[in-house]
Amino acid sequence: MCGITGYIGYRDAFPIIINGLKRLEYRGYDSAGVVLYDGNQINLSKTKGKVSDLLKKFDSDTSKVGNLGIGHTRWATHGEPNDINSHPHTSQSGNLVLVHNGIIENYNSIKQELIGRGYSFQSDTDTEVLVNFIEEIKIQNNVKLGKAVQIALNQVVGAYAIAVFDIDKPDEIIVAKLGSPIAIGVGKDLEEFFIASDASPFIEYTRNAIYLEDGEMAIIKKRREVIVKKIDDDTNVDAKVQELQMNLGEIEKNGYEHFMLKEIHEQPRAITDTFRGRLLPEEGIIKISGLENNMKRFLNAERIIIVACGTSWHAGLVAEYIFEEFVRIPVEVEYASEFRYRNPIITERDLVIAISQSGETADTLAAIKLAKSKGAFVFGVCNVVGSSIARENDSGVYTHAGPEIGVASTKAFTTQITVLTLMALRLARAKGTMTSADYRMYLQEMERIPAKVEKVLEMDAKVEEIARKYLLSTNCLYLGRGYNFPVALEGALKLKEISYIHAEGYPAAEMKHGPIALIDDRMPVVVIATSRGHYDKVVSNIQEIKSRSGKIIAVVTEGDTVVRDIADHVIEIPDTEEALSPLLTTIPLQLLSYYIAVMRNCNVDQPRNLAKSVTVE
Ligand code: AGP
Ligand code: GLU
Repeated sequence: MCGITGYIGYRDAFPIIINGLKRLEYRGYDSAGVVLYDGNQINLSKTKGKVSDLLKKFDSDTSKVGNLGIGHTRWATHGEPNDINSHPHTSQSGNLVLVHNGIIENYNSIKQELIGRGYSFQSDTDTEVLVNFIEEIKIQNNVKLGKAVQIALNQVVGAYAIAVFDIDKPDEIIVAKLGSPIAIGVGKDLEEFFIASDASPFIEYTRNAIYLEDGEMAIIKKRREVIVKKIDDDTNVDAKVQELQMNLGEIEKNGYEHFMLKEIHEQPRAITDTFRGRLLPEEGIIKISGLENNMKRFLNAERIIIVACGTSWHAGLVAEYIFEEFVRIPVEVEYASEFRYRNPIITERDLVIAISQSGETADTLAAIKLAKSKGAFVFGVCNVVGSSIARENDSGVYTHAGPEIGVASTKAFTTQITVLTLMALRLARAKGTMTSADYRMYLQEMERIPAKVEKVLEMDAKVEEIARKYLLSTNCLYLGRGYNFPVALEGALKLKEISYIHAEGYPAAEMKHGPIALIDDRMPVVVIATSRGHYDKVVSNIQEIKSRSGKIIAVVTEGDTVVRDIADHVIEIPDTEEALSPLLTTIPLQLLSYYIAVMRNCNVDQPRNLAKSVTVE
């Protein structure tokens, strides 16, 4: 996954591209590069490291002149992160310059072919092969860049979002998409055009955007037009210009030290926005259009299969408990990366729910395509409008969490659970597996959740104090039962991925089957012990740990008087229905991992080795 941005118009391209890359850096950030073209000379600079490193290099490397340019932040797939492997890549003649997000899977056979024709390569990347493949086709067929790109892309296998230009035609940029995102910002009176992996780099210049579909390419002509075509048959596409609602404020940190903290505190608003217009307690109804239009499919489904990765997979586990309890339908939750390769048994009677914040996770996208190829109906839960997964699904529903910039997913998790809970309640009502009284009670309680999340967030300082005591830990266990077992897994993932402390989540009762051997006075154990969730059993588990000198950090329902006397630390949260408790219990765990990571001087928003969305296998 990486970030692509570009500009063609009347302004200086450099500041637009550099600021755009800064906004995209969360998408992948092991190296960065920019190329500018002023009609006479190519000004290109690229480097391993961050956009800030590129900025330093640009000053010494080259001038910043040109109103045509493209930029790239890389998350390496072929070739280690270093200067040479950074993008942009130039063709052997020096005429073509290209940036790429994705993987060209058959790059090696193409590379051997090109070497046989006298090409040599500076980098180890698949991308450099692509730009030379396009050049070779352009020369051999004596065609313009657009045609050469189209011919080349019909022969490559893999995923790409690319931007490429020919210095002999500096009034054009070509972009193309298959499997990785790209948006075209359309400036006022077509005077200028912007390119980006998402709209954040150009939102302050224009709200009008064209999102390419998979298998489409666009020829962007300076101060004139955008021609969108299908790559396979060269037919023109009537491109839809969307007016974007996202605003810059959503993108900036708004005064928080990190995007992650901002996004943790945004959760009351994000949950409210996600159920706005869908949860109507006064009328006693839930209305999710994608669900309403497919109600029969859901009610007749013999099984629901949930496919997802990472935090989204944890949201799927919560949904398994909720759907099975409320809707009484069998649910299986699958890691998309396993599902796609194990030749699963899928029939038309199965309904698949695909959960993805970014809507670009390669494994989840592949699992969806597999399920569809076997006749299943796929319903998506996505946070990014127009994302590849959103467009691949048969239908779906968007979470309205807003852009999630921090690599560690937080508001995406709670908004996914919100949507999935609304779906389960609506289906339970339609199926008659829930009484109208219970239904109404849940609708009213769901409406109270954002205020209860606000109350949990008031524990911020207390959690920070607890974090201070455990920032030097080398291991940590997270325990939960029932609905809060997935929350224990999620809490462990949060700690692992941003503080680099090893952590594991377990069902609380599972301790006796081995993990309890790990307990000693250096092992902090986070236990979710809400009053309505197998409470007495969890208290026994806490006592078992305590008797072996484990350090207990307990998340309890406010007013708890039992755990308070056993645990080393207690974080109280408001009471709620157990099925809705994950929306509250996850918050202290998010804050705990955040503060420990900050105190360990980790890069909270861009943890090492990670990217915001894994668009490669
Ligand atoms: C979550 O904190 C992680 N960054 C990661 O596990 C993420 O949830 C996973 O890659 C799935 O991403 P998606 O929801 O965008 O598909
Ligand atoms: N596969 C290309 C490379 O490794 C692009 C990776 C990316 O999407 O950033 O350079």
